[in-house]
Amino acid sequence: MGTRSGSVRQKRGASCFLLLFCCAFGALAFDLQGHRGARGDRPENTLAAFEHALEIGVNTLELDVAITADGVPVISHDPYLNPALTRDAQGQWLKARGPLIRSLTLAQLQVYDVGRADPASEVARQFPLQQARDGQRIPTLASLFQSVGATGTQQVRFNIETKIFPNQPADTATPDNFVDAVLAVVRAAGLTSRVTIQSFDWRTLRRLQQLEPRIATVYLTVELPQSNNVQDPAWTAGMFSKDYASTPHMVKASGGAVWSPHFATIDANKVRAAQQLGLKVIPWTVNEPADMERLIGWGIDGLISDYPARARDVMRRFGLPLPASSQR
Ligand code: G3P
Ligand code: CA
Repeated sequence: MGTRSGSVRQKRGASCFLLLFCCAFGALAFDLQGHRGARGDRPENTLAAFEHALEIGVNTLELDVAITADGVPVISHDPYLNPALTRDAQGQWLKARGPLIRSLTLAQLQVYDVGRADPASEVARQFPLQQARDGQRIPTLASLFQSVGATGTQQVRFNIETKIFPNQPADTATPDNFVDAVLAVVRAAGLTSRVTIQSFDWRTLRRLQQLEPRIATVYLTVELPQSNNVQDPAWTAGMFSKDYASTPHMVKASGGAVWSPHFATIDANKVRAAQQLGLKVIPWTVNEPADMERLIGWGIDGLISDYPARARDVMRRFGLPLPASSQR
């Protein structure tokens, strides 16, 4: 057991380390993103989840978008109504995968309640702390912008994912129509300076760059044995990984500003190499404090978490600046 003076020396040493860390890694720019709002605490991708994330205090709201039959961008991870999350107008859980969002008008979509996970579902098991908010509807992207605007915050950013699947073209709008619809809503809200567009399907990022180069694009990757978008040119807008030195080189060549890899697929060397190319590295989806600590120690530029409050605790320990809470 150490002496008290030893403990003080240790604390001073830790402070020096944190100072050096902050200087070395540009701590002021650290980007805490609430995944699907704050999925660990509230039903995913609902206004209740986004509101909660703002109360906790995040830099960025991460969210997923689909396009309805009448061309309205709405916030949903799945291109169809997910039976684990969705009850019909009679309050009954959907018994199987529901209709595609692209087959429903916004008015038809609004009858469904997504404010509670089915207690029998894997989602409920995975997020036992999630508090239900009955009556929540699948929100439009415009309604999220409006709701955040009503809080008066001018700082929070939006990391909008185009949920589109090259191998399932019938499930969603086309890449062009998808991007056009999202961009129209972003522009109408006057939020081009506070938005990034992210996707595993790099076709939509290319389209966005052509239409609105001021909006930064975020290249999502997963490189696991069971799932790998980088190795499949259908996902990478026709790019072949064999033609590039590394995944970050592909992202850089594509004009990306941010590389967002699955957190378990990177190490300190990959983070450094990507940053040396001028990319920011913001991994998804980091929920365990030990993982957050390890990744922050590697100098990542931000992280995406279902549990932003946990991430804030870790950030505090590292001396990183904390985003403001809407409650304070
Ligand atoms: O932001 C990246 C992350 O959200 C991607 O995973 O499936 O939760 O949308 P997913
Ligand atoms: Ca997402």
